[in-house]
Amino acid sequence: QTFRLSDYRPTPYAIPETRLDFRLAPERTIVHARLTIERRPGTEPGTPLLLDGDELKLISLAINGIPAGNNSYRATPDLLEIRDVPSAERFTLDIVTEINPTTNRQLSGLYRSSDVYCTQCEAEGFRRITYYYDRPDVLSVYTVRLEADRLAAPILLSNGNPVEHGEVDSARHYAIWHDPHPKPSYLFALVAGSLGVVKDHFTTRSGRLVDLAIHVEHGKEGRALYAMDALKRSMAWDEKRFGREYDLDVFNIVAVSDFNMGAMENKGLNIFNDKYVLADPETATDTDYAGIEAVIAHEYFHNWTGNRITCRDWFQLCLKEGLTVYRDHEFSADQRSRPVKRIAEVKILKSQQFPEDAGPLAHPVRPREYREINNFYTATVYEKGSEVVRMIHTIIGPELFRKGMDLYFERHDGEAATIEDFIKVFADVSGKDFSQFALWYDQAGTPKLEADFAYDEKAQTYSITLKQSLALTPGQPHKKPMLIPIAFGLIGPDGKDMVPSAVTGGEVHDGVIYLQRESETFTFHGLAARPVPSLLRGFSAPVNLVASLSTSEQIFLALNDSDPVARWQALNMIFTQVLTEGARHLRLGKDMQIDDHVLEIAGRIAADTTLDPAFRALCLSLPSENDIAREIGENVDPDAILAARDRLMAAIAARYADDFAALYQSLTQQGPFSPDAQSAGRRSLRNILLDYLSRHAMSPDRAAHQFATANNMTDRFAALSVLVQRFGGSHEARNALATFEQRFGEDGLVMDKWFSVQAMQPGPEVLAAIKALTRHPAFSLDNPNRVRSLIGTFSANNPTGFNRVDGAAYEFLADTVLAIDPENPQLAARLLTAMRSWRSLENQRREKAKAALQRIAAMQKLSTDLRDIVERTLA
Ligand code: ARG
Ligand code: ZN
Repeated sequence: QTFRLSDYRPTPYAIPETRLDFRLAPERTIVHARLTIERRPGTEPGTPLLLDGDELKLISLAINGIPAGNNSYRATPDLLEIRDVPSAERFTLDIVTEINPTTNRQLSGLYRSSDVYCTQCEAEGFRRITYYYDRPDVLSVYTVRLEADRLAAPILLSNGNPVEHGEVDSARHYAIWHDPHPKPSYLFALVAGSLGVVKDHFTTRSGRLVDLAIHVEHGKEGRALYAMDALKRSMAWDEKRFGREYDLDVFNIVAVSDFNMGAMENKGLNIFNDKYVLADPETATDTDYAGIEAVIAHEYFHNWTGNRITCRDWFQLCLKEGLTVYRDHEFSADQRSRPVKRIAEVKILKSQQFPEDAGPLAHPVRPREYREINNFYTATVYEKGSEVVRMIHTIIGPELFRKGMDLYFERHDGEAATIEDFIKVFADVSGKDFSQFALWYDQAGTPKLEADFAYDEKAQTYSITLKQSLALTPGQPHKKPMLIPIAFGLIGPDGKDMVPSAVTGGEVHDGVIYLQRESETFTFHGLAARPVPSLLRGFSAPVNLVASLSTSEQIFLALNDSDPVARWQALNMIFTQVLTEGARHLRLGKDMQIDDHVLEIAGRIAADTTLDPAFRALCLSLPSENDIAREIGENVDPDAILAARDRLMAAIAARYADDFAALYQSLTQQGPFSPDAQSAGRRSLRNILLDYLSRHAMSPDRAAHQFATANNMTDRFAALSVLVQRFGGSHEARNALATFEQRFGEDGLVMDKWFSVQAMQPGPEVLAAIKALTRHPAFSLDNPNRVRSLIGTFSANNPTGFNRVDGAAYEFLADTVLAIDPENPQLAARLLTAMRSWRSLENQRREKAKAALQRIAAMQKLSTDLRDIVERTLA
């Protein structure tokens, strides 16, 4: 079944009130739902009432308190149809269902994770608990009573504020929660179990005292302190930056170890994948800390962008996700280094979203149709969705953007809104016409932006000709030109931005070129010397820029641009050109050319102590193999790419071995570990130098020493990566893996690192090791984190290992996906997206990849999730 945006209709009835009573038991949980139903104005009295279900077992049904007769309704596992609907405007339904949380391995609805009862209802999990209008535009006030065994589940949580709790009998107890804020069913949550807790509090700007609690597995309380700190900083930041205060007396976070996604913003009761809660120096890397800070903030910010204002339907998913990602990006930028954060965002966008946009799974930021909504929690909806919001900010500026957001909150609080509503607030506050801009939500694909330049010495003018184009994507054969904001500068010979006396040919203001047509020429007057153009400063639009610049102009930008993001982009472009050319040459059996200037610029940036170490680390980390493959675009040979990348690294290392060694030494940590951005930046630079130095020395000694002496996971894991990926199979690598396993073998989250580092070992031989690791006691196909760390990492981030010429790794992925699908369709479908770029492979591999995909597609029984992904991937 295909769902279409154009088919949207409001429901004939509303559910103003929802009362839920849970008798929790591991295998037989009884759910009693009492729904107040109200006929909407315009609905004919007697119109049948159709509620969603999924694998439900109806125990009893009463209408207005009277047991419903057999002919008055029809119940199947996925539908409850009330035929004899009372003609009164309001009536009640009492629906009793029985569910089994223990056998629910989809991790959607009510399930158990390490004996803790928990829920995941977004997008359509609530219908696995009771029959309901399980869609985001039906808002209801919830009161929830939970009852469970007191010893097994001393903690009983749900949304909103606690109302009362007490004993049922000698074995069982109960709690009642009330959430005064009307909400859609996907924001419902409950948790019951035995957990440790970290408590704190926060006083809002207007004086509300909020009790904060983070619940984690017993014994791991100490690892939740950083998350608590991040939560308090998020609450303060949202007040300051967006004027948004928290609106309940309690805020609970629960960490569980079986979770399909990162986390979930249930009203007042966020449920997290424990990966985004637990951290301490011995077990978490700097990247983990940054991830926790970002996800804690993201879920908290959803309280306003998602919960107070939700989505009318799931086509509007980016309304809450793109906006909330934008907000968490801004938060992290304010907490850390803004340019470093922005570069990290651009890297993620390019490595995750650009390939999605360029392949068979491409879809607009706001899709117009879907078969399975869970397959649309994508980089396009989240990351490109955030970029679109950022462009609005660029176009109207910070003051009007804030005014627009204020208007959005004021106008739509308590509503289920659309993208049109969102765009309109910015049009209203700015008086601008956003109709062309709105195409960003509707047209899939990454625009290609070509730039050509001409200097007229006599006239002292400099012209920039910009041309945009958008490749065809599934279901969208015709594309229109979009409004592209291009932040820019014209850099003079002294390295400073030149100021033109006038601009003709198009709209340019406040350092931004606004490209509106397919092609436009912007002419800048009064320039006494030829400038070097810096385009797309701050990565002001999610486009593929192809600028006709000479290598010396690019080097000039990399060394002089006042915008660090643009400097990094220039450098990245230089490396990318060397690497794509190199891979092409190596594939033809020719030698790879590396210009001396390219090596020198790496050395100069590494040595420039006026620059942030984190920025220097980003500059020194060469484009990934996947990045290079994406640039090449067709007939991709992963082995040639790896070889080219290795050669460039080796050349840089050889040239700067002594300097790098001295720098590595000077960056050695002084004093105790701290996860702050400055210290993390020093570690990241030092660890990339470790990689260069080890490669140059062709010896694992330095990495083995760092591994043995590290007092934090960042340095330990960086050393382990070098050992396994550069010196895999060596005595030192095997030793380090064994030591690590011995120390952390009981800790699933830490073992994820151990699995993923082995999954990244390059070359075709690694497949056998991966297969063996699936039988490791710490591994389980049931746990999404384990599956992603081993099999997800292997298939998405190990191009030479996964793309074996014989296709054996594709068959392995197909087998794994088929084994997971009956248990956890969301996980299976997500895993298979690793094959989305199969068409760009060289012929031999392409055929093998196709065969593996076809084998999956030919299966009789596939989940909707997996069927949707495999069919679109092959289409
Ligand atoms: N709304 C959550 C977040 O972005 C993601 C939950 C998605 N879950 C799912 N099963 N599709 O924070
Ligand atoms: Zn979100």
